[in-house]
Amino acid sequence: MTKVVVIGQGYVGLPVSIRASEADFEVIGFDINLSRVRDLAAGKSFIEDISDARLGAALASSRYRPSADPADLAEFDVAVISVPTPLREGVPDLSFIESAAASLAALVRPGCTVILESTTYPGSTEELVAPVLERASGLTAGTDFHLGYSPERIDPGNETWTFERTPKIVSGVSPASLAAVQGFFDQLVDKTVAVSSPKEAELAKLIENTFRHVNIALVNELAMFANDLGIDVWEAIEAADSKPFGFMKFTPGPGVGGHCLPIDPSYLSWRVRRSLGHTFRFVELANDVNEHMPDYVVQRVVAALNRRSLAVRGQRILLLGLSYKKNTGDPREAPSKEILKRLLALGADVRAVDPHVVRDQIPFGVQAVELTAEELSEAALAILVVDHDAFDLDLIGHSGAEVLDCRNVLTGPNIEKL
Ligand SMILES: NC(=O)c1ccc[n+]([C@@H]2O[C@H](COP(=O)([O-])OP(=O)(O)OC[C@H]3O[C@@H](n4cnc5c(N)ncnc54)[C@H](O)[C@@H]3O)[C@@H](O)[C@H]2O)c1
Repeated sequence: MTKVVVIGQGYVGLPVSIRASEADFEVIGFDINLSRVRDLAAGKSFIEDISDARLGAALASSRYRPSADPADLAEFDVAVISVPTPLREGVPDLSFIESAAASLAALVRPGCTVILESTTYPGSTEELVAPVLERASGLTAGTDFHLGYSPERIDPGNETWTFERTPKIVSGVSPASLAAVQGFFDQLVDKTVAVSSPKEAELAKLIENTFRHVNIALVNELAMFANDLGIDVWEAIEAADSKPFGFMKFTPGPGVGGHCLPIDPSYLSWRVRRSLGHTFRFVELANDVNEHMPDYVVQRVVAALNRRSLAVRGQRILLLGLSYKKNTGDPREAPSKEILKRLLALGADVRAVDPHVVRDQIPFGVQAVELTAEELSEAALAILVVDHDAFDLDLIGHSGAEVLDCRNVLTGPNIEKL
């Protein structure tokens, strides 16, 4: 049986691991986070896309085993690296990829395959991972063993475009490596798309995220101007979307969050600046606009209260939604954090509702409450930050509470749209 080791059991690594076990590979889900490994071994999934039942079935099949013991990595045939790639003071932090590669390096054998999945700047697979693996093993990537890059496109909470259904870009440092990487993923997903080298695959992922980032920034900036001009930007975007060609709809919001948009485009701009000495202006501008949005939301809150002769200090503000996107519990880089921070600094009494975010992820200084008519009526203002399906929009809309709707899902005289 082919032994697959997946380094990092997070939002990306866990679905890959479970899918590989379902495709009859013997999978070790490796993670340095002991409590995560313990939870997974006990059948407790922390992500919405993998149900406890599906995790339980994978564990019961004995083809999936979570582990924090590096000894379990030995004799792997395929290794997938899906560890974090954050920014540290605005600069890519590749230490997780480096340490994951180091944990595999001495175990690389002729014929095995190593695949990087973490989102990173173009050149990482060949310039960063290959030397670490080659140095320790004494083998050459592309000939003695296979090495490639395959970016992840997981969209948490998306029931249509699941991991299996979403085409997967694959690449290798040589034709033989490409064949090995593609051969592996062909068994996990419906369709793979081959590109000629890891750099194109790495750039493709960053193009996808930068495209979203820039277009969201465009409509966010439009939303701010349209409000000042007294024009309904949401209606205008909807009208533009009636064009059957040459337009793709993006909608404004309170800012971008998650592991991708606030971070990945900066990997690209960093690479461009470092290698070419140029500024990637679109990325810088999009960062500037999108990072400003939480501040803008608070400005609108201040203005709304001011119209009622109220100061922010001492007012009860109810935040509806803390995660970075609809129907997920992932609060990473969520705009709600910045909104909350600013409101607290202004002296507001902030309460928050989010049925998806687990208690220990609720930011300090905010009281988590249920969505009830009382909570709504006791708030001077509510801010709909995330439009989770679980929110009773009728209750919010008909409560009479003044609401700043950042998602354009509510109607009524008491609703103000972003
Ligand atoms: N979350 C998404 O929706 C998404 C989508 C596409 C791509 N990505 C990219 O995939 C990569 C992983 O993201 P994620 O969301 O799964 O992160 P995550 O934080 O959910 O999971 C990463 C896991 O790796 C573990 N880890 C860190 N260093 C390790 C090491 N040396 N050995 C073993 N385990 C280690 C951590 O403990 C953690 O459990 C990132 O590059 C991210 O940009 C994420």
